[in-house]
Amino acid sequence: PKAQPLAGKKVVITAGPTREPIDPVRFISNHSSGKQGYAIAMAAVELGAETVLVSGPVSLAIPPGVQMMPVETAQDMLETCEGEMPADIAIFTAAVADWRVASEAPEKLKKSGDGPPTLRLTENPDILATISRSPNRPKIVVGFAAETERVSEYAARKLKSKGCDLIVANDVSKGSGVFGGDRNTVHLVTASGVEDWPQMSKDEVARRLMERLAQMLVPQQKV
Ligand code: PMT
Repeated sequence: PKAQPLAGKKVVITAGPTREPIDPVRFISNHSSGKQGYAIAMAAVELGAETVLVSGPVSLAIPPGVQMMPVETAQDMLETCEGEMPADIAIFTAAVADWRVASEAPEKLKKSGDGPPTLRLTENPDILATISRSPNRPKIVVGFAAETERVSEYAARKLKSKGCDLIVANDVSKGSGVFGGDRNTVHLVTASGVEDWPQMSKDEVARRLMERLAQMLVPQQKV
């Protein structure tokens, strides 16, 4: 049987996009498929963790053994994550919408002779930064960074500004195929430097990442 170094430990993972309503039938969102986050949840279960997956709307099957918490908006996602604290490890793979429409229209917006409506946006809460600065902070907080240029440099900034222990940076520029695809090329950024991983499947990224986190949390154990 496989070693279960995370038995008795709780891991909370965010995944997928968020959906920010414009009116009852329209929303703002992004291309996250949830694949990377779901793969991490599966890897956490394999290492024996109590695994909670806080997921925006995606079309993936619920991985066996995870506790699924479906959400829609960034605000839902934040409240659900707060409700799941305390935890030993939290991993934020979700592509959270940075902005939402300031006031959702109660009825479907209609075309009118006055031209298209103007949407006023307001900033969403930063879930990762909020959790990592809360009194309930998990022992290990991992952020992802989706960048299209200067990947490691911007990721190192996020490590500080969001107060995480580790950032997994990936290049999501056009043509990388990371959003929605099955493979990823990541760079692990910590206070002590950057580690470049070769391109591999999202499942493999997930397994290696979870093994690394298990070693950080329970150093004496062999994984
Ligand atoms: O879902 P897939 O198709 O498999 O694609 C995977 C992925 C590209 C979505 C994933 O690997 C990834 O990079 N996720 C982070 C996407 C992102 O929003 O990155 P960011 O650089 O904008 O945000 C940095 C970090 O802050 C992330 O951990 C994000 O979850 C978190 N964040 C951002 C904004 C916000 N309001 N709240 C947050 O918690």
